[in-house]
Amino acid sequence: MFTSADENGILRAADVLRTGGVVAFPTETVYGLGADARKGAAVARIYELKSRPSFNPLIVHIFDLAAAECYAVFDGPARAVARAFWPGPLTLVLPLRPDSGIDPLVTAGLETVAIRVPAHRVARELLAAFAGPIAAPSANRSGKLSPTTPLHVAASFGVDAPLILAGGAAAVGLESTILDLSGRDPVILRPGAVTPDDLAAVLGRVPSLVQGAGEDPARPKSPGLLLKHYSPNLPIRLRAIDVKADEALLAFGSTRFMGVQGGGAARDLPEQMMRNLSESGDLVEAAANLFRYLHELDASGAAGIAVMDIPDTGLGLAINDRLRRAAGRG
Ligand code: TXA
Ligand code: MG
Repeated sequence: MFTSADENGILRAADVLRTGGVVAFPTETVYGLGADARKGAAVARIYELKSRPSFNPLIVHIFDLAAAECYAVFDGPARAVARAFWPGPLTLVLPLRPDSGIDPLVTAGLETVAIRVPAHRVARELLAAFAGPIAAPSANRSGKLSPTTPLHVAASFGVDAPLILAGGAAAVGLESTILDLSGRDPVILRPGAVTPDDLAAVLGRVPSLVQGAGEDPARPKSPGLLLKHYSPNLPIRLRAIDVKADEALLAFGSTRFMGVQGGGAARDLPEQMMRNLSESGDLVEAAANLFRYLHELDASGAAGIAVMDIPDTGLGLAINDRLRRAAGRG
């Protein structure tokens, strides 16, 4: 499961990414658990491995600013900050380009994307060899400390450990500073090695710190709590056993026995009124489809979205967490 971070190891890791797999690799902050950010099923495997009970958006790692411009919209201040601190431990939240190709599971359905250009030699060589965007949260199981050595990664995942590019200890040991430049005012969502003063020197103003973000920089507060969540506009009805006449259906597994109230079968719904997260009941496939399908059904012209029961195990926990948040708003 370990591979040395020489040319061969890096080519091997890039191949794993190309075929939709997951690899752990060092950055200057912490080890990351990476997958091709354009492949929903690969990104779903990250969540599965981490046993994350919810879908927080992930940071997309890119080789340089020029490549990053393919995925996010940079304005003057964003470019200035990127030029000053990239490569390095700074993540920028920016508007997502509509043609980015980034899978919606990476952004958890948001219209913004978090991008970072890492400085670590191995991360850079992997990005160069792969020549694409790598989505990567820290390479640890949910709730465990962030990993700064290959052994931490191996210990955290045990028998499930992915291929680990062993590149020594991470130098910073603290996750990157996250600066949100997608709104009117710059906001630090997570403090890190790049400080508010560092940023102020470039931005010409001190970015505000999101409430709660500065309390203990050694243990960044679950950034998920500080985050706006994507929610469909339509009301969501969970654990539906049939479909109302004006509802769209988000199915999971077989729809053979789903009826439409007032008569008819769910499988005869018009194409735009139904999506099946996974006909075979595969939770990894369902996670990969979740945000795309919610967006599509939200635009279907229906009055609401009925969602079939999804088991509360494995990735189903994260899927249900997100659906419950969406239903609460509905
Ligand atoms: O140092 C780091 O940043 C490490 C290494 C591997 O690069 N990565 C890391 O990723 O810490 P992760 O997944 O643990 O942190 C991602 C956090 C999310 O929880 C969220 O707060 C923020 O980044 N984030 C990602 N996309 C966002 C978005 N569109 N809007 C707001 N925040 C976002
Ligand atoms: Mg983390």
